[in-house]
Amino acid sequence: MSFPENFTPELVVESPGRINLIGEHTDYNLGYVVPTAIEKKITFKFKRNHTDKECNLYSLGYNTGFTFQLDKIAKSNVEWENYILGVLNEILLRTDKLRGFDCTIESKLPMGSGLSSSAALECGLAFGLNELFDLGLSKMDIVLLSQKAEHTFVGTQCGIMDQFASVMSEKGHVILLDCQSLEHQQIPIQIDPYKMIMLNTKVSHNLASSEYNTRKRECEEGVAILQGHYPEVTSLRNANNEMLEVCKSEMSATIFKRCSFIINENDRVLKTANALKSNDLNLFGALLYEAHEGISKLYEVSCPESDFLVDFSKQYDAVLGARQTGGGFGGCTLNIVHKDKVDDFVEAASKAYKAAFNIELDAFEVKPSAGTYIQN
Ligand code: GLA
Repeated sequence: MSFPENFTPELVVESPGRINLIGEHTDYNLGYVVPTAIEKKITFKFKRNHTDKECNLYSLGYNTGFTFQLDKIAKSNVEWENYILGVLNEILLRTDKLRGFDCTIESKLPMGSGLSSSAALECGLAFGLNELFDLGLSKMDIVLLSQKAEHTFVGTQCGIMDQFASVMSEKGHVILLDCQSLEHQQIPIQIDPYKMIMLNTKVSHNLASSEYNTRKRECEEGVAILQGHYPEVTSLRNANNEMLEVCKSEMSATIFKRCSFIINENDRVLKTANALKSNDLNLFGALLYEAHEGISKLYEVSCPESDFLVDFSKQYDAVLGARQTGGGFGGCTLNIVHKDKVDDFVEAASKAYKAAFNIELDAFEVKPSAGTYIQN
């Protein structure tokens, strides 16, 4: 399919990626996370085409598109199409106001790099269609239906963090989100003279076919064992280290490690939120290093490339902390680097990374940014 060259959009929507400062894999365990949207985003251009059900989607990056009918939505064999089709399916379950539309998608978000291009794709589409057809969906509806689309059409049993961050973020703030109650606080973040520098390992994961769903099942197994002693424990969110010790002998070493990581990661999230509120950047940095240790050794969702970059950063006094961010198995590391030393650090890390893995490192700064919005 090729897209008409004279495509004039009625509506342009910007849908950002996100970083997660801390709280990895805690969302589907109903714990806490501290994400925020970033400036890198996906741009959607929409136009109603005045048909009842024909939809044309075109990806400018992939230079490819597809056409489908609203009354014949089904899973596709092409992975990225399922993010779109899954969202459409969820919208159609909630409203009959949707009609035919044309849409182009242009992404500045590297896929599979732990910056949640998938949530940006889902939420940007839902946000735009809500506006275009006056569907009456709230922001929270958009978050929840996008998460559901990922469960049903893509096959990743993801938590709520990515979609929440992509839609709800505010410029200059990070979100402390309670993934159980969905209560959240916008925390203003001021880390000057430091900057948040991302190093993209360029090792990309595919969560749907990766260990992600296995981790979720392992945590559920842990909860089932804990419940035998503590019926009140319905998720790892309400378990603690003492409880885990009591149940240790009934668990495999793997299940124990997974549970231990989640329990301590939740604790680190709350400590991080306090450190950010009181501007204790040294503590923030130390918690990032501690988190990476758990990601790598206990939850086992890191990779040699991410471990290398985090270890490398430890030689630099100008780096307060670093860790792999996102679902895991590659993607980006987040580094808190003194602004005067960013260039030196990036240059040295790039050289060392190239020597170790023969991969050109990509480095960029991120700033807490606004969630999904309409471009005027
Ligand atoms: C992916 C998922 C999120 C979250 C992270 C890990 O990004 O989509 O829900 O679980 O991994 O923290």
